[in-house]
Amino acid sequence: TKESSPLFLRRAKQLVTLKGTSEAPVTKAAMKELHIIENGSVWMEAGKIAMVGEDEAVAKAYAERINEAKVIDATGKLVTPGLVDPHTHLVFAGSREQEFNMRLNGATYMEIMHAGGGIHSTTRATRAASREQLYAESYERLQTFLLHGVTTLEAKSGYGLDMENEIKQLEVAKQLNKDHPVDIVATFMGAHAIPMAYQDHPDVFVDKVIEMMPRVAELGLAEFNDVFCEKGVFTPEQAERILEAGKQYNLLPKIHADEIEPYQGAEVAAKVGAVSADHLLKASEEGVRRLAEKKVVGVLLPGTAFFLMSEFANARKMIDAGVPIALSTDRNPGSSPTESLQLMMQLGCLHMKMTPAEVLVAATINAAHAIHRGKEIGSIEVGKKGDVVIWNAPDYSYIQYHYGVNLAEKVMKAGKLVV
Ligand code: NIG
Ligand code: FE
Repeated sequence: TKESSPLFLRRAKQLVTLKGTSEAPVTKAAMKELHIIENGSVWMEAGKIAMVGEDEAVAKAYAERINEAKVIDATGKLVTPGLVDPHTHLVFAGSREQEFNMRLNGATYMEIMHAGGGIHSTTRATRAASREQLYAESYERLQTFLLHGVTTLEAKSGYGLDMENEIKQLEVAKQLNKDHPVDIVATFMGAHAIPMAYQDHPDVFVDKVIEMMPRVAELGLAEFNDVFCEKGVFTPEQAERILEAGKQYNLLPKIHADEIEPYQGAEVAAKVGAVSADHLLKASEEGVRRLAEKKVVGVLLPGTAFFLMSEFANARKMIDAGVPIALSTDRNPGSSPTESLQLMMQLGCLHMKMTPAEVLVAATINAAHAIHRGKEIGSIEVGKKGDVVIWNAPDYSYIQYHYGVNLAEKVMKAGKLVV
């Protein structure tokens, strides 16, 4: 049938393959190597990439089967792996534009949260929402991600903060993963905030979070475990306890580290062997050194610096130190309400002094490594998923330069044209 026919993407002006990056996250100068094929073509079938090369070579190899294939012409265009967003809070209800307004009038993000708004306000909305409502709101965001070139994303819970509602969020994510072309990798984040009722005895809540883990693991609802390690939220000691507990249930550690104040978050990430340490705006020099040593992926979220009007993470220093860097939207209703990973890449160039090549690596293969998918996605190589974007752009610098609009023209997911 037409649905399952091979896809033959032909004659890209620049086909960015990122060949040879599947084994380990890309660091230092290697982040500038894209492995570009000019006049490049890709043959995809059965959901996967079957051949990548110059158009002539691929056409010759499949000469007898070209009639079977759906041919997509990419003449004059840039083609890259599908973008991967390794850090989102996809599933939640409501919005917080009133708080945005308060921040514009001088209130800070943390003041709003400690007064019972912020994450608490979204938790109230998410608890009150039916599964259907949560699903519908989240589906719309997921579709926006796809339209902007994202083919896989990570999604955290953390707006339930009790067993029932954390599981509700994760089950909605699981259902979305089944129904929508974008692949979702789920993270349990029961430790996203200390509920107002536990403010005076936070360790009791830490126990509660740990009690949720066996159930989450048993239901197969998450692969990762994340914690908001921040002054006034979870201490480094609590974060370590939570992440170590998760390991016993095969929930691999991730951490919101050093976002608003320096707080030893990067150090905790290295100590527990986290897969990624995210944010890192205020990470210490020693912390950065340890992340590099342990090859923890640094997931940078320039949207939060932009939207909270703070300083950006020091990407240059981290790359020079050897930390593999990935980029993400952090899509959430408080600190980064956007689905545009393209804009994050542009902020990466304009505010973090990353190069167009580095941001592309950061939003594809390194992002894949940040969610343990480096062998399946993130580059255009034989055997990987047929996740590919054709851009309305002639080369890879152009998508960083023509900023603020959506340049994703066609999106292929698992070898099918979905946009
Ligand atoms: O990654 N920092 C903690 N969590 C989110 C914000 C969540 C929210 O404000 O709703 C973040 O920035
Ligand atoms: Fe986050």
